[in-house]
Amino acid sequence: MEKIQLKNDINVSSVCLGAMNFGTLVDEKASFAVLDAYVATGGNFIDTSNNYAHWRGTGDESETLLGKWLKERKNRDKLVIATKVGFDRHGEGAGLKKEQIEYWIDQSLLKLGTDYVDIYYAHTDDPSTPLEESVAAFGKLVKKGKVRMLGGSNYDVWRYDRAVGAAKKAGYAAFEIMEQKFSYLYANAAVAPKYTFNEYTDRERLRYLKATNTPLVAYSCLLGGGYEAPEKFGDGYIVGKRYDVLVEMAREKGVSNSALVVAYLTNLHITGETRVIPLFSSSKPEHIVANLRGADIKLTEEEMNILKNA
Ligand SMILES: NC(=O)c1ccc[n+]([C@@H]2O[C@H](COP(=O)([O-])OP(=O)(O)OC[C@H]3O[C@@H](n4cnc5c(N)ncnc54)[C@H](OP(=O)(O)O)[C@@H]3O)[C@@H](O)[C@H]2O)c1
Repeated sequence: MEKIQLKNDINVSSVCLGAMNFGTLVDEKASFAVLDAYVATGGNFIDTSNNYAHWRGTGDESETLLGKWLKERKNRDKLVIATKVGFDRHGEGAGLKKEQIEYWIDQSLLKLGTDYVDIYYAHTDDPSTPLEESVAAFGKLVKKGKVRMLGGSNYDVWRYDRAVGAAKKAGYAAFEIMEQKFSYLYANAAVAPKYTFNEYTDRERLRYLKATNTPLVAYSCLLGGGYEAPEKFGDGYIVGKRYDVLVEMAREKGVSNSALVVAYLTNLHITGETRVIPLFSSSKPEHIVANLRGADIKLTEEEMNILKNA
């Protein structure tokens, strides 16, 4: 799998693995098997959060499981670990006040069994706390060496941009990577996302990312397994011709629809878009390996345009 340089010596594989369900929906044995399969296929970029998956447990499960796996495999220094702060965990944790950021980073480091995280995301905006307060707290974590790079997730574009501006103005490290929902299909604009933060990446966001040369980590990029079982798409996405074009090209190439989505996203930069890093999850090693086939597919400009313009 190709490596992408995000910053200095932070080099990530072109696909990121989501750990949201590890330790809750996916038990330890299955989670370890998925993590091992991902690393064996060349992956090194893992996404978790301080609150995964609190709606099925306490919120400590994912980071704790990852900490155990890192310790057993002794591979911490070979991996790029991203975690997050700012969302609710059973009534606590929501917000980006200075004290919250300082508290939750230490909790994450403890659970992960490491003294630094590579990427620390604000999981969602906190309009009730001045941006200046949040960005100063994040910037100080970088200065202390607890965090190597900062990112923002689930922000309106204008608020993300203001956070970057506020950090720069105060002389702190700013967000340098965005995590947002994105895939190949278009979202159905008539259907509001279940949660307001869950906004799908639209053309305006893509233009912002391109103009600021900000990489996009595209979360839930397999749309919950819908590319293999379209009934799972629900009414949130426009399936139609765009889906048919994908299915036809996947058949011609002898890969799964999901693998072609991964290929489309990893190749999107050749059409002039910003660098997109697909982020997906699975409970099955064989699904991980099949999906990652897409990361090694080099699509031509013509093929990209067929998919993009469908
Ligand atoms: N920043 C945020 O706010 C945010 C929000 C949501 C998620 N995320 C991140 O994104 C990651 C992925 O999100 P997600 O789990 O919502 O979405 P996803 O990765 O798009 O979908 C996961 C689903 O796809 C299925 N799947 C994967 N490969 C498959 C294959 N080859 N064939 C059939 N089914 C397949 C999985 O089933 P199987 O288990 O059967 O493979 C699972 O049900 C999370 O782990 C988390 O790290 C971030």
